[in-house]
Amino acid sequence: MAFEDRDRLLARLETLEAVAQAGGGAERVAKRHQEGRLTARERIGQLLDAGSFVEMDAFVSHHCDDFGMEKQVVPGDGVVTGFGRIDGRAVFVYAQDFTVLGGSLGVAHARKICKIQDLAVKVGVPIIALNDSGGARIQEGVVALSGYAEIFLRNTLASGVIPQISAILGPCAGGAVYSPGITDFVLMAERGSHMFITGPDVIRTVTHAEVTKEALGGAATHARKSGVAHFVAPDEEGVLDLIRELLSYLPQNNASDAPVVPTQDPPDRVDATLDEVVPMESSRPYDIREVIGRVVDDGRFLEVHQYYAENIVCAFARLAGRTIGVVANQPAVLAGCLDMDAAVKAARFVRFCDAFNVPIVTFVDTPGFLPGTEQETGGIIRHGAKLVYAYAEATVPKLTVICRKAYGGAYIVMSSRHMRGDFNLAWPTAEIAVMGPDGAVNILDRREIEGAPDPDAARKERTDAYRERFANPYQAAEWGFVDAVIRPRDTRRYLASALATMADKRDTNPPRKHGNIPL
Ligand code: HXC
Repeated sequence: MAFEDRDRLLARLETLEAVAQAGGGAERVAKRHQEGRLTARERIGQLLDAGSFVEMDAFVSHHCDDFGMEKQVVPGDGVVTGFGRIDGRAVFVYAQDFTVLGGSLGVAHARKICKIQDLAVKVGVPIIALNDSGGARIQEGVVALSGYAEIFLRNTLASGVIPQISAILGPCAGGAVYSPGITDFVLMAERGSHMFITGPDVIRTVTHAEVTKEALGGAATHARKSGVAHFVAPDEEGVLDLIRELLSYLPQNNASDAPVVPTQDPPDRVDATLDEVVPMESSRPYDIREVIGRVVDDGRFLEVHQYYAENIVCAFARLAGRTIGVVANQPAVLAGCLDMDAAVKAARFVRFCDAFNVPIVTFVDTPGFLPGTEQETGGIIRHGAKLVYAYAEATVPKLTVICRKAYGGAYIVMSSRHMRGDFNLAWPTAEIAVMGPDGAVNILDRREIEGAPDPDAARKERTDAYRERFANPYQAAEWGFVDAVIRPRDTRRYLASALATMADKRDTNPPRKHGNIPL
């Protein structure tokens, strides 16, 4: 081959690369920047370790000749796909390019995504989706829908095999929300992120109702009300940083462990302030996050669903360098009662941890399931059962600390020893019984109290007697249902020691196609 031929070949490659890099053209890119948004490639550049991105399928193009598409040249077909590194660990990534046909999904676009989904599963590496799409590409008809189906199928088959993370970085409508909906974690930006099945225009046409994009599918709606979004950040740079932080807690796949991160925080550190954190008055609230922060490495933890069902806290943290999943009742919200949303939130988190070998540490302080018509008719039985199921089937190391109330069903659910808890601790402030003293005395001794010469004194006497016998950890300790009653200050030492001992735990469930979690 003559040298000028080689130059010509290289020039052709460079031309094609330039077209692919240009996306939807300078004008559309400039518009994005004016809106304060990054392009697909800029997003990937910011997410990954510098210079680590390797692009695949940059020249893939659509083969659609309907509706003027035959005239549209769209190299890459509106999505940038490939692999790279985050903190030195491999990830697959795709970013939809809104400047190209609104990031809409045609079949070529879908095939690019499917290719890296297949590879990610085959090599056991997390996949990150940076979504920004108008949904199924209208010009391609059912062919576009087939592309979504292929992606959803792969999302489902990859579930519990590799971590799947979805960032919503623009308007995501129609099919564009269901892939994120299947994945493990959804992240949104407070500005410019929207998710809905059908947008405000369609809602107006069909139902005559007026609703803004923000109220329908903005970050606040999905983080606080619907629970669709697990994390929010102020802007898209914040979302990309959060993805890096989240991944630092996770293993590459279901057959490996999360990285151990060395810490200067001694595993046997004693924290005397924990002795004072639970108020002596049993109905007084306190913030369970204070307890979590004082127990885990360096006081650092990453809350999942921070603004949803705040009566339960779910978070990733580390103990002596190892990743743990923390589930904790929050007495500062709804007295820490378990309601439908809290049960679903915690159940999903427990199942993620179990699927990916992340040990679970549970802090218990809950008076029980939230009573009320709304909860009963809303299906608290069905939703509460999800949490029972999730804890019961989980085979990762399960460590439990009962800080104060563990009454009734909530005692059983919250990683009790009977649910295959491996190491169950209680603080001296623990109250473990069928129900609280007031309720119990009302049922057991009402007639005697009403007939007594001084009913108030009689009630107090019976309540004190009940409290002495049951509202403490010692009946449970007598039965071996808690393994140790410890001083709160020693909690970190006990948990770190138990985790080190139980890190290689092996436990199994009966062979079956799959269980039937009450969805
Ligand atoms: C083809 C599309 C498109 C789509 C947007 N575009 N959505 N092209 N198919 N689905 C194109 C526009 O024509 C436009 O092209 C460019 O992308 C930018 O779109 P704009 O409307 O100008 O942008 P904006 O005002 O920011 O509005 C963004 C939007 C809106 C909210 C996403 O475009 C929209 O409502 N799109 C349709 C959303 C939708 O209903 N999708 C559902 C598809 S059904 P030019 O050339 O002008 O730049 C579906 C079924 C799967 O997904 C269901 C599975 C469960």
